[in-house]
Order: sequence, then structure tokens, then C-alpha cells
Amino acid sequence: MCGIVGYLGPRDGVPVVMDGLQKLEYRGYDSAGIATFVDGELAICRSVGKLRELQKKLLQADLAGSPAIGHTRWATHGRPTEPNAHPHVYHGVVVVHNGIVENYISLRGELEAAGHHFSSETDTEIISHLIAREIEGGRDFPAAVRAALSRVRGAFALGILYEQEPQTMIAARKGSPLVAAYGEQQGEYYLASDIPALLAYSREVIFLDDDEMAVCRPDGMVVMNIADGRECRKEIHRVTWDPIMAEKGGYKHFMLKEIFEQPQAVSNTLLGRVAENRRQVELHEVGFSHDDWRRVNRVVILACGTSWHAGLVGKFWLESLARIPTEVDIASEFRYRDPLIDEQTLLIAISQSGETADTLAGLQEGKGKGAKILSICNVMGSSIARQSDGVLYTHAGPEIGVASTKAFTTQLVCLLLLALDMAAARQTMTEEEIASQVAGLLHLPLLLEKVLELAPRLEKIARRYHRASDYLYLARGLNYPIALEGALKLKEISYIHAEGYPAGEMKHGPIALIDEHLPVVVLVPHDRHYEKVLNNLQEVVARDGRVIAFTAAGDRKVAEFSAEVVGIEEAGELLNPLVYTVPLQLLAYYTAVFKGTDVDQPRNLAKSVTVE
Ligand code: M6R
Repeated sequence: MCGIVGYLGPRDGVPVVMDGLQKLEYRGYDSAGIATFVDGELAICRSVGKLRELQKKLLQADLAGSPAIGHTRWATHGRPTEPNAHPHVYHGVVVVHNGIVENYISLRGELEAAGHHFSSETDTEIISHLIAREIEGGRDFPAAVRAALSRVRGAFALGILYEQEPQTMIAARKGSPLVAAYGEQQGEYYLASDIPALLAYSREVIFLDDDEMAVCRPDGMVVMNIADGRECRKEIHRVTWDPIMAEKGGYKHFMLKEIFEQPQAVSNTLLGRVAENRRQVELHEVGFSHDDWRRVNRVVILACGTSWHAGLVGKFWLESLARIPTEVDIASEFRYRDPLIDEQTLLIAISQSGETADTLAGLQEGKGKGAKILSICNVMGSSIARQSDGVLYTHAGPEIGVASTKAFTTQLVCLLLLALDMAAARQTMTEEEIASQVAGLLHLPLLLEKVLELAPRLEKIARRYHRASDYLYLARGLNYPIALEGALKLKEISYIHAEGYPAGEMKHGPIALIDEHLPVVVLVPHDRHYEKVLNNLQEVVARDGRVIAFTAAGDRKVAEFSAEVVGIEEAGELLNPLVYTVPLQLLAYYTAVFKGTDVDQPRNLAKSVTVE
């Protein structure tokens, strides 16, 4: 979490950095700050609250200069106050930081004993003190950064300036994401936590690896190893995302835009992955062969939050179509339970950002035990993608809203493609069966367009129920994870308490919650569970619960018992989770709008959770 942006070059860096921070505000938004040199003098502006508060302050401060570094914060150590906001400065060394200094208490004690005084409660401030101490001990700026960082345990992505060397900007990385980029003009460099911050300025990026730092000066950028200072040769990647993709494009919120982008996003996920005959899946890009798929005897899926819900659906597909035993683990749990993994295990890490600390650590745990790693990521060049043996990119485009929407549906598409490819390799499905699922996938964007037409209906339902204090979501089988996802969406953006439950499990506890005040969302697709879910729905009605049912368009039976019914044009049993997801996203979205919450940046959350 936290976003950092830096600029060095001939233009005024302040608007560039502020623009970049705005694109990264989803990474944290409790305070923000920026530093630059005005006529060689260090100038810093910081503010509590969202970026707009900093913008207001900047209007009065009249700051302009280069280099400039900025930060948007998600507090870990120290409350969101102005003294705790970044940049932190000590003796002219200016630092913005994303990550956690794990040994900060002992380092702070050591520095205080040596006479250092601290002006914040943060772990970050330690870093500026350590660097300043090395400079005062006689090292040059880059060498001082290297020496200081060798003392730091934990994770960091850093932007660093030094008042006595106002033509140098240093970026350093260990465990937290950081990209460096070349500008259009000679001697122009950028750094940022994530690509959307740079899209308007640069397409040529370098992904810094752990333990690397970049020293940017007007005459060039040098990437070196932090430990020994040796220069590293880095590949320059060309980013294909369009800057427009990171704009709201007329929508009130990014989340709404991203919900409506799903038909296109799903088309992009499918692009190039279906054979010309439109009957088979082609996943050569992931770097695993059909022989590899035949050797796999077990799949372990690791993920957090929404991506974990995608994994739960993936388990169903992998087991029923490719007949591979599959476990799905919450990444933060997996790494601490000494899991049973061997060389024939395929570990699938699912992550939109590709930077989630728990998922990354789980991946490393599995890799250490010999598993082959396949990741399903949205962000190109992210840490999880780079540490995997193969990557299946979702190609959803930048997802800015903190609540994940199009990343989820495209993760599902990737998982189904994978299950079909594995099924083909393992001959667990006939060619005809595979062809029929491929046809379903190709038809999906059209069905998603149709389901989006239900938006006004969901807005009405949201208006009616937005004052409820709790919600229950019920479904069975493949759609049970969709109930979990619907509940997560609602709670994270509307702050209404919501629980997702397998409908058959309701009678073992949650049934006690049901009364006339509780809206109960029930997913009743026309599949093998239909009759059973209908019974569960009636159990809710018998206890005066207010049922909001989602079922196949034209269904009369469900309508008979439900307070509200939303008819969905279905996609077939295997693909229904995708079409049932979208209306739940819309229900959560409109509920949040009626409640007046901050839809794109809900309280306490951050888009990319890079701390444990
Ligand atoms: O980037 P990731 O997919 O690894 O993120 C995992 C979760 O943090 C994320 O899905 C989170 O639950 C979202 N806010 C859900 O909308």
C-alpha cells in the first residue's frame, strides 16, 4: 500500500507528481505529501486526508521544481497526521516509502542513543536518518543509500532526494513494487509504484527487482545492486495500456466504469486464446505444455479477497472438468501451516495487482517446496507475475476502483480457459464438450452486455434496501463463491454488514438472523441445485426474511416467493457464475451511492495490500 511517484527532468515536476499520485490514490489515501527543490532550496508540502487537501495547500504554496517526489499514504506505523505524512526529511535527505521497516524500533533506539531526534512516529523516518548519517560519515549519496539500506530489514520501495545533490533522484526496491521509466525528453526520468501513474508520460519502463536501486541523473539512469553496487542490465518494457484507460471516461466512479467495461475486458481476456476453429483453447503463452498438465497431480490455488473467490470457482472447474484435485487457500493462512507440496503440485497464485504480500509470500513458500507456479495477474511485470514459472494475464486493463470487479470476471475466464486446456491434455472431456464450452465463452461478452441493462432495476432495489444494517447472500455449488463475492462487494463499499453462505448451510446457524428487517439475496440459477435453493428460499420467506432473488429470466416460481426478483439471461451451468456476478456488483455499487460512501476509495482499504 502507499503510492510513490518521482520525476527528474527539465519540466516542473510538481504537477507531474501530483497527477501520478492521483492515479495511485487507490493505494492509500489517509495523507499525502510532496517535496521538490525551489531554487536549490528544499520545499515540502504535506497534508492529512485525501490528495485534494494537498492540492488545496499547494495552490497557496506556489511550489515548482525538479526533481520532485510524492507520496500517498496508507498508515502502518503512526496515525494519519501531518508529521507522519511523507516525505520525511533529515539533514537534507528526503524520503518517500512504501513498505515496512521491521527492525525500526532497534534502529530508532540506536539513532536516538547517538543523539538523533525524530519528528514523526513512522518507521520511514529512520531511513532518512540512516542515509544522512552515512553521508556525514563521508560516503557519496548513492553509496550512503546502499549502506543505509543494508541495515534495514523488511520491505521498501523508496524515492530519495538529497538537498546537496539536487540533480539526483534515487529509487530503491525490496519487496514493494517500483517501476522506473524514461521520459520523452533527454534526461527525463520517472519512478512510480504502479504503471497507471506514468501512462500519460512514458511507455518505456523498467521493473526494478528486489535489492536493486536506480540512480537517475540528467546524464542517465544506472540500475545497480544495493548490496555490492554492481550495475544490473535491465530490460526495457513497452507498456500497451492506454492513458484513457486510467480515466473515468464520463462515469461517476471508476467502479461503475469498470463494471461496464466487463464485456470488453472479457473479450480481451479471450483474445488469442481460442483456436481459429473456435473449438479449442490455446494457452501456449503460459509456458506449460500438455505434458506438464498431464504430470500435475494436484493444484493448490492461493489468493486473497476477491481473487480468493475466483479461486473457489476455479476449484470447481478444475475438479469437474480436468479431474485434478484442487485446494484453495487464503494466502495469509497457507504460508503458516507447513502445507504439503511437491514437484507435481501446480500452485496457482491469483492476484489482480500481482503485489499482494500474502499471496507473494505463499507463492515463495510453494516454490521453495518444489511446486511449479502459474500466476493469474492483471498487472504486467508485477512481482507475482515475475516470480512465477508462467503467467496468464487477465488483460482487464487498469483497475482503479478499490473494489475489484472486472479483475474478478476476467480471472474467472482465465481459470475456465485453464481448466479446459488441462481437460484437453488429460482427455477428461471430449472435443465436443470442450467446443461447446468455448462457444459459451465466446458468447459471454454479449450476455454481459445484456446483464448490464439491468442496472436501473438494481438501482431501484438498492434505493429500497440501502438502510438495512445487515444482508445475507445465499447460493449453492459454483455460485456459492459468487454469494461470498456479492457480500464482500457490499460490505467494502457500503459498510453494510453482509455475509455470504452456502444456502444449504443456512439452517446450521445464520437462519437465526432472519427477520423482517433482513434482506436475503438468493441466487437461484437454473442448474442442478435449483429445487434445493428454492427450498432454502422458502425457509427464508417462512421467517419473514425479505428475499431479493436472482434467477433465470422468466422464472415464475421464484418470483412467487420473493420480494424482488431479477431475471438473468443465463449462460449455462458452468458459465453462470460470470453473469450472476455483475448484478451483485451493481447492487453493491448503487447501495453505496445511496449511502453516500466513497465508492472508489472506501475507508480503511487500499487497492494493493503490500503488507502482511
Ligand atoms: O490484487 P489482489 O487481487 O491480490 O488483491 C486481493 C484483495 O486484496 C482484493 O481482491 C480485495 O479483497 C478487494 N478490495 C476486493 O474488492
